[in-house]
Amino acid sequence: MSLKEDLTNAHECHRRAGIALKEARAVAREVLQPGESLLEAALKVEDTIREYGGEPAFPLNLSRNDEAAHVTPANGDTLVIGDDMIKVDIGVHIDGYIADNAFTVDFTDHPELIKASETALARAIKVIKDGVLTGEIGEVIESTIVEFGYRPIRNLTGHGLERWIQHSPPTIPNRKFGRGKKLSSGDVIAIEPFATDGEGLVADRGKGEIFSLSARKPVRLPAERKFMALIEKYKTLPFARRWIDMDKCDFILAQLTRKGIIREYPVLKEVKGGLVSQAEHSVIITKKGCEVIT
Ligand code: CO
Repeated sequence: MSLKEDLTNAHECHRRAGIALKEARAVAREVLQPGESLLEAALKVEDTIREYGGEPAFPLNLSRNDEAAHVTPANGDTLVIGDDMIKVDIGVHIDGYIADNAFTVDFTDHPELIKASETALARAIKVIKDGVLTGEIGEVIESTIVEFGYRPIRNLTGHGLERWIQHSPPTIPNRKFGRGKKLSSGDVIAIEPFATDGEGLVADRGKGEIFSLSARKPVRLPAERKFMALIEKYKTLPFARRWIDMDKCDFILAQLTRKGIIREYPVLKEVKGGLVSQAEHSVIITKKGCEVIT
């Protein structure tokens, strides 16, 4: 195939991933209600992705309140939804081509905080076109969130969506940060503003349930080999501990993480305990604007 055909094919897969994602999002909106189990909700949403021909590009993220990202329910998790602000981050891939989308469900009665990230996303999408600088996008996001009286989370960013790589360059900042990089038509990127009433910073807080392959190194123990075979299909995409059906999974995971073969994603929390809202879309950049695929 020519380069141009490759790109057309890639875009088609991204779009199909987006279609499955929208179905999963509709299910998420329906099942994420007070009193419902977070684990049950996650399983239903992930099943919907598969039902529509996609695969989760990462475990469904359900991050609550001051948790900004990287939270997914564990097996046996009994947590139910209460008066929470829940960031629902959904990733779908088809043959490695990803669609990434997030929205926030609010049972805390902070509608303006939700609106801040949603409006920032909508305005960012309006300025995106061939030749736009990532710095311009960051500026629009920051000024919008500040206008609502909140702060953007400055150490979380949007990103490129390369095949099998969930977060690839370029970084799309959520604040004014120099000129940045020029984007071109055909690029596929995810824009994800986060707004908070806290400090505007997140840090690693606590053990994660999400992992990915970090480096391919030889392993010798049979259990380690079995584990590596089980995660082969995820390639370099993140996976959940609860997706791995094997004995002593925790032990093997700890061993492989120590060896630098597996990477753990720690839970990211707002440093001052602020509430966090998030909105995200994936787009294909065109000459005159962009096509939102989610
Ligand atoms: Co993303």
